[in-house]
Amino acid sequence: MSAQRRAALITGSSGLIGSEVVDYFCRDGWTVHGVDNNMRADYFGPGGDTRWMQRRLSEAHQDFHHHELDVRDRAGVEALLAGLKPALIVHAAAQPSHDLAALRPFDDFEVNALGTLNLLEAARRHAREAPFVLLSTNKVYGDAPNEIALAEHATRWDYADPAFAEGIPETFRVDHCKHSLFGASKLAADVMTQEYGRTFGMNTCCLRGGCLTGPNHSGVELHGFLSYLVKCNLEGRLYKVYGYQGKQVRDNIHSLDVARFIHAFAQHPRPGEVYNLGGGKDNSISILEAFERIAELSGKKMQYEYVEHNRDGDHICYYSDLRKIRRHYPAWSITKSLDDVFREIHAAMSSR
Ligand SMILES: NC(=O)c1ccc[n+]([C@@H]2O[C@H](COP(=O)([O-])OP(=O)(O)OC[C@H]3O[C@@H](n4cnc5c(N)ncnc54)[C@H](O)[C@@H]3O)[C@@H](O)[C@H]2O)c1
Repeated sequence: MSAQRRAALITGSSGLIGSEVVDYFCRDGWTVHGVDNNMRADYFGPGGDTRWMQRRLSEAHQDFHHHELDVRDRAGVEALLAGLKPALIVHAAAQPSHDLAALRPFDDFEVNALGTLNLLEAARRHAREAPFVLLSTNKVYGDAPNEIALAEHATRWDYADPAFAEGIPETFRVDHCKHSLFGASKLAADVMTQEYGRTFGMNTCCLRGGCLTGPNHSGVELHGFLSYLVKCNLEGRLYKVYGYQGKQVRDNIHSLDVARFIHAFAQHPRPGEVYNLGGGKDNSISILEAFERIAELSGKKMQYEYVEHNRDGDHICYYSDLRKIRRHYPAWSITKSLDDVFREIHAAMSSR
């Protein structure tokens, strides 16, 4: 890649993943253009406001340029890509909550599905060679993972079926199950991104995230599991556990390891790929276990209330099978353990 072409376009640049990717590529010597309109504050109220991060990025990096643009603005997106002709596109802007999607179905679909199409088509016209990475989600599998036979342990559920001992692979089925409207809009974006790889030969990639986390998250009850849980613990707020006895399991990956993977993909891109990207089995934890872990760090007992019904379509146990991603990118690995993740979120929240 020649020096003058090392411009990256990152959407959702003030969010958890976008901001980490901005930091990563700025440090790597790229010019980074961020797109964000702080719609997270509109979705979640003041707790979701990401302006603090936009300011931090602008102060930290001379070569970071913020663009106040809505990914639904098709003409605006096309004009931006026509002007920049970026060498890398990372699409992390989204309506990210499955509970909220049911309340705002048009916003959800227009941001998640149409916004992705706006970017893909603008990329095809103006930056066809650029690797294009979509932050997809494990919700594309809907609640089908709940059909796997499970074993109940003292503090967590786990897969009883040995076929899933390593977690959920990319070949897991995506239909005939309940997705939530969010899962459906993200699946539309995911399939469309694959299609731009297959139909036009573009180097597109869908990262089906587990729980993506880290100290950069503006965590709220409806989105940002660990970040919100730590916030509740430190502030003595009541945390609501929805169903599954609090033994539901999530795999957690630090946003830095997500950024490191995007870098690996940008160096050796492939067309129309799909990867499950989470912390894997080693970084999996249940809610009850997370309560213990944060209480050990903060010295504060978690205040929580158990609500008998689970969230619609919520996974009982989910961790990503990382074998495909490791096979394709053997130099990439998870570098941040669960302990690191907890320590960093705790430290960041304690100092805010
Ligand atoms: N955080 C997770 O646990 C997780 C898990 C799986 C998948 N993902 C996916 O990863 C991506 C990034 O997630 P995140 O946790 O960083 O989310 P986030 O909410 O922290 O960041 C998203 C950013 O996009 C911006 N945005 C929203 N709508 C926009 C619009 N219409 N135009 C421009 N900007 C807009 C928001 O203001 C926010 O700053 C999303 O696609 C999400 O679905 C996240």
